[in-house]
Amino acid sequence: MDYEALLELVKSRRSIRAFTDQPVSEETVEKVLEAARWAPSGANSQPWEFIIIRDQATKDKMALWARQHQDLAHEAELTRPEELRWGSAARSVSDPFFKNTPVLILVVGDPRVSRSFPLLTYIEREEKNFVSALAGAFLYMTLAATSLGLGSHWASLVGSGYPSAMIADLLGIPDGYCIYDMLGLGYPAIEPKPRVVRDRETLTHYERYDHAKYRTDEQLREWLISLRK
Ligand SMILES: Cc1cc2nc3c(=O)[nH]c(=O)nc-3n(C[C@H](O)[C@H](O)[C@H](O)COP(=O)(O)O)c2cc1C
Repeated sequence: MDYEALLELVKSRRSIRAFTDQPVSEETVEKVLEAARWAPSGANSQPWEFIIIRDQATKDKMALWARQHQDLAHEAELTRPEELRWGSAARSVSDPFFKNTPVLILVVGDPRVSRSFPLLTYIEREEKNFVSALAGAFLYMTLAATSLGLGSHWASLVGSGYPSAMIADLLGIPDGYCIYDMLGLGYPAIEPKPRVVRDRETLTHYERYDHAKYRTDEQLREWLISLRK
């Protein structure tokens, strides 16, 4: 593996939200999980566990709860200034795309492993380290998926209060575990549009924070609005 190949992999990982009917084999899913297993974590605590979901009835239930949550979220979205609203807020809420995704991998974390941290880290940074570890494993999965020709998408909605409680009950997730996020996997049916990526110079500082690069509130607002377009 050289840097160019790695960068190519990183750049070609994109969120895919539409899939072909081509099935994803168990072996392919295992390869994705194998990469996640090697992710770094605070004190090597490895808080992650993975639930593979293929059953359509389960997907339908999860999609329903996510949609109910989204209904309220969209109503709340309408309270924001129009230019900052997500475009979808004006439309009626449809089923989340993960309903039609061939394989879902729900990433859950066991917070008890944080006791392996040194005491002060445990007290001050437990939550941050825990979530960072789960995010790392998640990213490894997305890269592994890309290398296998799969598309993947990040569905964080399922970790919100209402869907999360319902899903924990349906899937028998142990009390106290955190539903982190869910990865959808399948063979891409679409080519994503090019993505806006911030220019490296604007976000790099040498030795000290360069205040010439600090974005004013107005500049930041313009940037956020540009992302909505
Ligand atoms: C923490 C996190 C949460 C995300 N949650 C969602 C989500 O709930 N639904 C969704 O469609 N995309 C979600 N995404 C995907 C982002 O929208 C996507 O990564 C971003 O727009 C960049 O596009 P790309 O992945 O194609 O490069 C999430 C991404 C991250 C990192």
